[in-house]
Amino acid sequence: MTLINKVCSMTADSAVLKNMRNLYVSYRHHENSFVLNFYNKKIQYMQDPQQNSIQERDSDVLQFSIDRATMLKYVLTHISFEKPHIESEEKHIVIDFSSPNIAKPFHVGHLRSTIIGNFIANINKFFNNKVTKINYLGDWGTQFGLLQYGLQAKNIDISKLKSNPIKCLYDTYVYANKLSATDAEVQNQARKYFSDIEQGQISLDKWKQIRELTVTELENVYQRLGIQFDDYHWESDYNGRAIKHMMDLLEQKNIIVTDDSGKKIAKVNNRNVTVLKSDNSTLYLSRDIAALLDRYRRYKFDKMLYVVDNAQTDHFAAVFEIVRQFDKECTEGCQHIKFGRIKGMSTRSGNVVFLNDILDEAKRKMYEKQQLSKNTRSSAMNEKTCDILGTTAVIVNDLKQRRQKDYVFDWDRALQSEGDSGIKLQYLHCRLWSLELNCGVSLPDACDPSCLPEEIIGDVVAELAKFEDILYRSHTDYEACIIVNYLFRLARYVNKMFNELKVKNVDPHVAAQRLLVYHSARIVVKTGLEILGVKPLKEM
Ligand code: ARG
Repeated sequence: MTLINKVCSMTADSAVLKNMRNLYVSYRHHENSFVLNFYNKKIQYMQDPQQNSIQERDSDVLQFSIDRATMLKYVLTHISFEKPHIESEEKHIVIDFSSPNIAKPFHVGHLRSTIIGNFIANINKFFNNKVTKINYLGDWGTQFGLLQYGLQAKNIDISKLKSNPIKCLYDTYVYANKLSATDAEVQNQARKYFSDIEQGQISLDKWKQIRELTVTELENVYQRLGIQFDDYHWESDYNGRAIKHMMDLLEQKNIIVTDDSGKKIAKVNNRNVTVLKSDNSTLYLSRDIAALLDRYRRYKFDKMLYVVDNAQTDHFAAVFEIVRQFDKECTEGCQHIKFGRIKGMSTRSGNVVFLNDILDEAKRKMYEKQQLSKNTRSSAMNEKTCDILGTTAVIVNDLKQRRQKDYVFDWDRALQSEGDSGIKLQYLHCRLWSLELNCGVSLPDACDPSCLPEEIIGDVVAELAKFEDILYRSHTDYEACIIVNYLFRLARYVNKMFNELKVKNVDPHVAAQRLLVYHSARIVVKTGLEILGVKPLKEM
């Protein structure tokens, strides 16, 4: 039960309340009471994913009116735990996210997958689920034949790759690709090379060394975002030789059949899709089919979430449908968590965007802004703070959008300190932190509502009370924007409270009670930011 359900269960049957999730809390100043409305419904998003508006279905409403003092006491006493007490689910959730392709730029789609996937991992952990984060790297397909060709033609050995593997592999791939455009022989050799390595005629050892270097470099970048993967999996783990047995089983069950041209195909919603090429080479689809079955065997997951852009909707529908025909249980927890495109994200160095470049650009721009701002503390003018501020801006700017919406990226809006941005939330956290540190009072032992009569306090507490319900909703809908927009709203009330109610130089008893409100707000902001994948700063 959430905090709010608990308050209401003092007067109502808790079994009734348990399923009432969507909540509206408001504070009636003139009646000195809080109004809590529960809706027994799912808020439905409009069909059009471009639209931000939401449509609501008719539903039951349960209304409570709770006396001010009771509510204040309850909320302010219970929220000051570092972690709200919520039901745990204890499921095993496996999340496939980020998953870039080596030798190709880590494009903005991967950036979104990384940010959204990390949020989903964090919120699941918060609900006490066991989470396994996997990064499924694309390192297989004909294009890797080309890459091999390039590595040989340019005479690049592993030691040369060490300092900057991703960029170097990308340059080599571009080089080979150019050659192949005018020289059919290059194409042929690349295809042959891939086919040989696919069927196990050439050893994968050198390839594995390249993979290791790539992971080391990627991990440095993920570290900047505070992300750690539990497992790295590779498309090449599911090469032709490795998945032959699996494909034979599918064939025995007639899930895949050979067509006139020799390809192996499957039926998905009355459409034929190719699973294996006529020379038995694997495809993205066959590798994902084998990978899913392999993951189910390894992890026995309750849910398997794929955080991948909208463009791959058909692909995942095919994966799930083919595997369902083979093993129904395996696909019951599978879900494609889709998201829209970002347009217009480029950096000073041009249009090909590597994740590191995006984060560097954000850091550089933040550094310039921090220098110009008169509010900046000199001790906070350092690289680390600017780096955290830059990544905060990029993360929050992304997560404030509804997942399925396409959006246009704008550096100025992402980095603004006014308006709804990550910088503003960091600023709020710093301000709350510094108040607690410097106000000279300590937190009271208990909440005394008689010292907190002001209207703004009612408004702030009404927001704080919603936090756990916000987390539930955001968790079930896989929508981080529910938390982000909540934090923006909370920030507006807390900033108003800053303007109206001081802690310094007031009666010490009143000061301590006000501090309790500010402290509770800080816990909520901190917890919210951490779930979003942002490291809350203490000064900036
Ligand atoms: N590497 C793929 C791409 O860049 C994404 C992989 C997503 N995960 C998966 N299991 N297919 O498009």
